[in-house]
Amino acid sequence: MTNQTSVKLLDDGAAIQVAWPGGDARFHAVWLRDNALDEQTRSATNGQRLITLQDIPAETRIGEAKITDTALDIRFAPEGKQTSFPLDWLRAHAYDRSDALPLGRMAPGIKPWNGTLDLTDISGDFAAVETSPTARRDWLASVNRYGFATLSGGPVENGALLRVADLFGYVRETNYGKWFEVRTEVNPSNLAYTGLGLQAHTDNPYRDPVPTLQILYCLENSAEGGESLVVDGFAAAERLRRESPRGFDLLSRYAARFEYRGSAGVHLYSRRPMIEVSADGELTAIRFNNRSTAPLTDIPYDDMADYYTAYRLFGDIIEDPTMAVTFKLEPGECFIVDNTRVLHGRKGYAATGGSRWLQGCYADKDGLLSTLSALEAA
Ligand code: FE2
Repeated sequence: MTNQTSVKLLDDGAAIQVAWPGGDARFHAVWLRDNALDEQTRSATNGQRLITLQDIPAETRIGEAKITDTALDIRFAPEGKQTSFPLDWLRAHAYDRSDALPLGRMAPGIKPWNGTLDLTDISGDFAAVETSPTARRDWLASVNRYGFATLSGGPVENGALLRVADLFGYVRETNYGKWFEVRTEVNPSNLAYTGLGLQAHTDNPYRDPVPTLQILYCLENSAEGGESLVVDGFAAAERLRRESPRGFDLLSRYAARFEYRGSAGVHLYSRRPMIEVSADGELTAIRFNNRSTAPLTDIPYDDMADYYTAYRLFGDIIEDPTMAVTFKLEPGECFIVDNTRVLHGRKGYAATGGSRWLQGCYADKDGLLSTLSALEAA
């Protein structure tokens, strides 16, 4: 690559163009200076940047640039600072792109699914993922790819779900406790604690930020019914965008409101869209929960009827049986969902005859993705 790579200055050194076999990319002088890799700019031990943008002259230019062996050597003016970038690093960090990114796209590595999802792709064995870094890496990778995974063969004991969170990070404790019990109660504080069926939903949209992972762990499940079901909210949003671009636009453009005040001393509320996209259009979160949606007051009168049409259509898509994966957890089995993406629900079950006892807890994706990345790098 070395001999075939060339560099030229653009706009009096305000930028450069690097050409390598099969492509080229422009880089601004200020961008290169800000991202210099030397020890005066970045800590050699933790990689953290040691300067602020204010330490770089606003009039920064490239005085000289040349390709040497496998690197690009640069002298910045007016500082006179010399530094070097590996050519591989430059290629990996090229940003010279003029095409607009598509609205509603999914992040790289995300795989949307529907009811045909092969459960063997997302299943792990409890003992294996606890003891084998490779098995753990593969299982965490499926959580990242599908937003959903199951584990079987775990212990049938109180609090065993904490060992699942320990695989990658930390429990997020809430007003429901470090974990919560999901079984029939008299005078339940939350509908989840009854035998009623539950429409597929994301949990706790009334929190901001929401818990980004949920683990549901089965200790007893001899009651008739009570199957779990999961739906890929990103696939549902993608389908909504196809069937009704305006509907997608309305649900992503306007904030919905969510609220919970089911127990004394607790009043949780948030104002966030049902479909959230990043500033440049990447799908980032789904919030959908009929039980905790508050009166919607952030949609103008002229758009409200269409908003409700879109909300209904999104619900129809989510309830379409072809979108859902349904399974019945056995004692010692659990599943984890990315609560910003995958909706979960359950079918109704008989409150008499047999029993159903699940324990649930929340955790966060930052820890999971960090552990996954470290395992992948190992
Ligand atoms: Fe839930």
